[in-house]
Amino acid sequence: MYALAPIAYHLGLLTMAENEHNQSPRVWLETYGCQMNIADSQLVTAVLRRAGYATAARPEDADVILLNTCAIREHAEERVLGRLGDLARLKQSRPDLRLGLLGCMAQHNRAALIEKAPWLDLVAGPDSYRRLPEMLGAAGFDPAVDVRLNRAETYGDIAPEYASGVRAYVTAMRGCDKFCAFCVVPYVRGRERSVAPGEILREARKLAERGVREIVLLGQTVNAYRHGATDFAALLGELARVDGIERIRFTSPHPADMTPALIATMAAEPKIQPYLHLPAQSGSDRILAAMERGYTAGEYLELVARLRAAIPGLALSTDIIVGFHGETDEDYRATVGLMRTVGYDSAFTFKYSVREHTRAFRLGDTVSEAEKGRRLAEVIALQEAISLERNRALIGREFPVLVEGPARRGGGMLAGKTPQFKTAVFAGRPAIAPGDTVRVRVASATAHSLTCALA
Ligand code: 5AD
Ligand code: SF4
Repeated sequence: MYALAPIAYHLGLLTMAENEHNQSPRVWLETYGCQMNIADSQLVTAVLRRAGYATAARPEDADVILLNTCAIREHAEERVLGRLGDLARLKQSRPDLRLGLLGCMAQHNRAALIEKAPWLDLVAGPDSYRRLPEMLGAAGFDPAVDVRLNRAETYGDIAPEYASGVRAYVTAMRGCDKFCAFCVVPYVRGRERSVAPGEILREARKLAERGVREIVLLGQTVNAYRHGATDFAALLGELARVDGIERIRFTSPHPADMTPALIATMAAEPKIQPYLHLPAQSGSDRILAAMERGYTAGEYLELVARLRAAIPGLALSTDIIVGFHGETDEDYRATVGLMRTVGYDSAFTFKYSVREHTRAFRLGDTVSEAEKGRRLAEVIALQEAISLERNRALIGREFPVLVEGPARRGGGMLAGKTPQFKTAVFAGRPAIAPGDTVRVRVASATAHSLTCALA
């Protein structure tokens, strides 16, 4: 069964410990943070499964508990530290339980973690997942720590354990070279590197055979993708030729890498869906410069105008940070102005969180927590109003919806996404199954979903 597995997995097999019942050891894996982490957890699951580990049904049943963590903001780290406290108590009652921390926090806080949580058995950064079976198999009491970043690691040869469903998230590139002043990602995920196009296409074909109809290409700055002569526009073009894949999306692009070729490919290729998550972060030129984002508000708006001219019906979402170092009320007003001018379909809004290792770290915080809270509440309320207005404007319009399954609101309703990635909920018919595309007409709208009827 492991005949085709690369050498690294054999190492894991040789050192693999069986639990006291002589069964495969069972792993419980919790994921925090972004879509990339969810994809990485699917990769980790595949690595461990190939090494003979099974999945535990509950943390209490596990021989190994792993947390795949996020370091993007302090709040994300606090959640994980709280959870680690609970797990430490579980380990006290079951000393044979192994606890491991994976992902961005492992990379970011390794020294502090080993000091604060000496009972951790394993600390593994995002480029060390191949070695997990070996690390878990290691004997002795010293925690196994591997937080070496590897500028070549793409895991392109390892097929992740994808979740079931009509949509799959496929990693196209890892790492980030942009070094925005506020962001810890380049330090915890390392340098940009792209998965070979052949590996991405092979995954896509396999997924299509399994009934997946929509692929979302992932990367921290996904449109910086480049492998040999293949840039991101070319990759999208090749992916669009995979039979069975009907819809293509990607996240998150960086405004600086939205090339004319990419915009032209999006406009020309019907499988590429008219939705873009385009992080702006701020609407103030002064703050954008301090953030080292590489564009002005005017350039960003000009890009939005070019995108909207090329791609009819394009939906846009964004990331906004309030309260960055030095953000005055005037700067903040410029952000509000940008949000109004663009009229995003949705927005992810964050209070600035000072992160160790980043370029802005030594500058510290200038905006009080209370003021950040006030600004955040205001941009959230503003976006709610804009989202509601934009969604209400769709009442009476028709859209093709890729059916995902039963709607969360129950009542026999089905749910899926429009091309613009809006959630559409509608009363189904017995013949309609997940993976089908149906036409619906929008009957009513909230800021977050569209209630529709089959058209
Ligand atoms: N503080 C607040 N938000 C941040 N982000 C990244 N770093 C920070 C930080 N230090 C936000 C950015 C990014 C999103 C993924 O998280 O908006 O686009
Ligand atoms: Fe962080 Fe900027 Fe890279 Fe995005 S582009 S991951 S915000 S450094």
